[in-house]
Amino acid sequence: MNKQEEKLKEMNKAFQALLESEDDWLANLANSTAVLSQFMTDINWAGYYIWKNEQLILGPFQGKTACVRIDEDKGVCGKAFSQRKILLVKDVSKFPDHIVCDPASKSEIVLPIIVAGEAIAVLDIDSPKLARFGELERKYLIEFTDILIENTNFLPLIEKF
Ligand code: SME
Repeated sequence: MNKQEEKLKEMNKAFQALLESEDDWLANLANSTAVLSQFMTDINWAGYYIWKNEQLILGPFQGKTACVRIDEDKGVCGKAFSQRKILLVKDVSKFPDHIVCDPASKSEIVLPIIVAGEAIAVLDIDSPKLARFGELERKYLIEFTDILIENTNFLPLIEKF
């Protein structure tokens, strides 16, 4: 196991421990973005867009201010949401329809958050490095979002839809 993988493993262990005593959705989303920025190197933004009134709306994040509303199917976030699919973009300038929030971002990974069969949000992580995210990150971030979903009560959020 290389250093990068060790760090990702350590991140998920710390995240699991953090969520063991808390299931509040807003607190867990907020703390999860702090965990991502503490453990992942070369990232400049990590946060959520939450589905509300037929749009994805900016949620808890770490990084520079970002665009607030994203329509379904727009940008990497909107596409990952509508296709319920993880999108790993090695070079955002080559992704048609990519939404630029920070011109410093060069690569990106977006994971849909699916609770009880419904996509409720996306987790977006950006990097100023090209091809920052690969299969290793995909594997550990799937585990990361699974930890989030298993330990969080999203009911109050879903009921607001
Ligand atoms: N780049 C994203 C928009 C969100 S920001 O990067 C924080 C997209 O294309 O959906």
